[in-house]
Amino acid sequence: MNDKVAKPQGWGAGVRTREAVLKRRYPTIDDLRKRAKKRVPSFGFDYVEGGAGETEINVARNRASLDGVQIVPRFGVENYTASTEIELFGKTYAMPIGIAPMGLPGLMWPGGEDAFADAAQKARAPFTLGSSAGAAIERMAERAPDVIWYQLYRVARDDLRINFDMAQRAVDCGVNVLTLDVPARTKRPRELRNDLVIPYRPNLRTICELMMRPSWLMALRKGGQPSFANYPRYVGTNPSHIEIATFVKREVGGAFSWEEVKRFRDKWPRALVVKGILHPEDAEIAVSLGVDGVQVSNHGGRQLEGAPASIDVLPAIARQVGDRAAVIFDGGVRSGMDVIRAAALGAKCTLTGRPFMYGLGALGMEGPGFVMDFFQEEIRAALRQCGVRTFAELSTLSTRHPNAWEFSKPTAARPAMAAAE
Ligand code: FNR
Repeated sequence: MNDKVAKPQGWGAGVRTREAVLKRRYPTIDDLRKRAKKRVPSFGFDYVEGGAGETEINVARNRASLDGVQIVPRFGVENYTASTEIELFGKTYAMPIGIAPMGLPGLMWPGGEDAFADAAQKARAPFTLGSSAGAAIERMAERAPDVIWYQLYRVARDDLRINFDMAQRAVDCGVNVLTLDVPARTKRPRELRNDLVIPYRPNLRTICELMMRPSWLMALRKGGQPSFANYPRYVGTNPSHIEIATFVKREVGGAFSWEEVKRFRDKWPRALVVKGILHPEDAEIAVSLGVDGVQVSNHGGRQLEGAPASIDVLPAIARQVGDRAAVIFDGGVRSGMDVIRAAALGAKCTLTGRPFMYGLGALGMEGPGFVMDFFQEEIRAALRQCGVRTFAELSTLSTRHPNAWEFSKPTAARPAMAAAE
C-alpha cells in the first residue's frame, strides 16, 4: 500500500500550502457560513440562510433530526481503499454527494453557477442546475458535461409548452437527469425584511453595506447582476432584466399534477426524478408512473414550516420504493457523517444546497471546490470508521433513529392519484 496516498491526513496535518491553511481555517461548514456572513451583503446571505415562516423551525428540524441518527460501526474489515463511488442512472459518480438545485447563487456570489459547475465536473459529483438559476442550461452543460442535472419548475402556460421546450433544450445539450420540483410560493420573512426583489434595487442601507463588501462588489462587476437566464427566449426579443423577472413572477410556479408527471415521463428520454417527496404513497405513485428516482426533500426547510425533517421520512420511503427507484435525499446535510447517515437509512445519493453556497460566500469562486474536497475527505474517513468497503454497504449497518416517521395506516387514495391512472 502506498502510505502517502492511502493514509488519512486529517484536516490540517502539518503542511503550509494554501489548501492546508484553508482546511485549518474552515474545518466545518459552519466556519464557512460565519465567514460568508461577513463577506456577503445581508440580502444575499439571508436569501440562502432563511427558511419558511417566522421561526424557520423546519431548517432547525432537519439538523436536529440528522444529529439524532446513530450508526453502529462494524469491526474487522480492512478498508483503507473504501470507495466513495456510486452508480446512478447509468453513470458512475466519484462522490455520493452533489449540488442541489438553487435559484440564484449569484446573490451569494455573482457568477456562482460557474464555480458550481467547475467544482462538480472536477469532482465527478452531480450538479443540478435550477431552472431559475442565473446561468443558461446550454452554458452549464458545456461546463459540466458529465455531471449536469436540470431541475424544472412548472410553467403552465400553453399546456406546458414552455416546460417541454426547456426539457428539449436539456436533451439537446446532453443533460442526463431531469428533476421536477413542486413547491408553491411561500413566505420567507427574511426576504421581506430585506425587500428582496429581482432585479435587485439597492436602498440606502444596502448601498452602505455594499461599500463594506468590496470583494463582493468586484465579483458583481465581473459576474453581473443575477437574472433568470433560462427564460429570456420565452419573454421576447432582448428582454430587460425587469421583463424577465416579471415573466418569472407571473408564469413560473405551482405543483405539477401526477398527470403532468406522466406526460414528462412519456416525453423525457433519460432519467426522471420527482423532488419534494415526503410521503411513501407519493413515492409509490411516482414510481408507478415510471420515474427513475424520488428525491426526499423538504426543500431545505424553505417551503412548509410544519413539514417533517427530510431524514425522518427517508426510511419509510426507501422501504416503499428503494428496490425499484433511486432514492435521493436532501435537507440539512452539513458533514460527511450526514451523508453516511442518509445512506445508512436508504439514500442512494445525497444532495445539499447551503454548504456550497456558504463556500461561495466565504471563498468566492474557489469555495465550491473546497466544499467538494471537504465532503470527499470526511466521507472517506467516515466510511473507514464504519467498517464497510463500499458506499452501498452502508445500508446494511444497524441504526437508531428516534424521530423516524412510521406510515402504518394507508391513507385514502387522493384525487390526483385517480387522474394519473
Ligand atoms: C433552494 N432550493 C431549490 N430547489 C429547487 O428545486 N429549485 C430552486 O430553485 C431552489 N432554490 C433554492 C435556493 C436556495 C438559496 C436554497 C438554499 C435552496 C432547495 C434545494 O434544492 C435543496 O432542496 C435544499 O437546499 C436542501 O437543503 P440544505 O442542504 O440547503 O439544507
